[in-house]
Amino acid sequence: MTRIALTVNGAAVVAEVESRLSLADFLRERRRLTGTHLGCEHGVCGACTVELDGEIARSCINLAVACDGAVVRTIEGFDDDPLMDQLRRAFSREHALQCGYCTPGMLIAARDLCRRKPGADEATIRKEMSGNLCRCTGYVGIIRAIKSVIGAPAPTIAPVAPAAAPVAAAPSVPRPAAARARPAAPPVSSTATRQGWTRVEERLEVPFPPDQVWALFQDIRRVAPCMPGAELVDYDGGPSAKGRVTAKFGPIAASFEGEARFAADPGAQSGTIAGTGRDRRSATRAEGEVRYRLTPIDSGKATRVDIVLEFGLAGPLAQFGRSALIKDFVARLTAQFAHNVAAALSGSTAPPARLDAGGMLWAVLRAWLRRLFGRGG
Ligand code: FES
Ligand code: FES
Repeated sequence: MTRIALTVNGAAVVAEVESRLSLADFLRERRRLTGTHLGCEHGVCGACTVELDGEIARSCINLAVACDGAVVRTIEGFDDDPLMDQLRRAFSREHALQCGYCTPGMLIAARDLCRRKPGADEATIRKEMSGNLCRCTGYVGIIRAIKSVIGAPAPTIAPVAPAAAPVAAAPSVPRPAAARARPAAPPVSSTATRQGWTRVEERLEVPFPPDQVWALFQDIRRVAPCMPGAELVDYDGGPSAKGRVTAKFGPIAASFEGEARFAADPGAQSGTIAGTGRDRRSATRAEGEVRYRLTPIDSGKATRVDIVLEFGLAGPLAQFGRSALIKDFVARLTAQFAHNVAAALSGSTAPPARLDAGGMLWAVLRAWLRRLFGRGG
């Protein structure tokens, strides 16, 4: 037996499991979450689909021991999710179920699709949903239901990340006590993610009033060095700048050179930075947008910064774009940014702290290995 600690539908769970127990059986038999159905039990039908660390996964072919430290969300965990509610109503309206056996997996896969590819056409929906089999309905109603939601205005989409922190925390890069980066921030705006782009939502808390943070954010020369790896190459004080972003992730190194454009709404204390760049070495092109919004907290003495980062990669490095490793990488980058912003506002003259790429790679990989092999470390 192996002891695992994970988060299931926002609740911290610790259990002793046999090494051969599947996640599906763990959820159904040990947690009584019977909305996760079992059909083929070898990864083909999609009936057992759940969300694992924010990505959809087949729980019949994932071992429970490999989910140590993971965040799992089953169909029962989407009760309060506006997008899931929209899908449920559409499935009912369009007669997208008969016996309902495939429905929990269909709904979780459909929700993931609506988030990743808003506005997808019917051919894309059919292709994306081809990993979920239904033996009753003939798919017409299912596709119609998803189409009606995917083309509708985005509801207030609930964050992907969990309500509670995982019990067994991954080994982490030390985070500054005064400025924290937290996952699970609500979207800054409901603008849909562009097709094929990766979306990461983060939340920072900075122990300075919003006006001070806002002033720093509008001072491109001061704020740019706070972002690890970012460098201004040419900036004349206007609404755009040329720059370079260098990212090193173990053996993978890329240096994107390009241009960024800034837009800000002082009244709402929100803004956008949109940019494009190219890594000459790998010929990978990157395009992305950061949206941020400041909110006073702690009676106005501190500021919460909600950030949505969306980016797309085209070229040899694109394969890394949607991996959870990259999302973890961005989370750590944001934590470092929060630390640097707090340091800049406190008048520190020390150069902004930079990421320890090697250490971070190790921390991220170690967390992943723990999840895969269920061992502490
Ligand atoms: S039961 Fe898991 S894919 Fe069929
Ligand atoms: S509704 Fe019966 S298997 Fe899909």
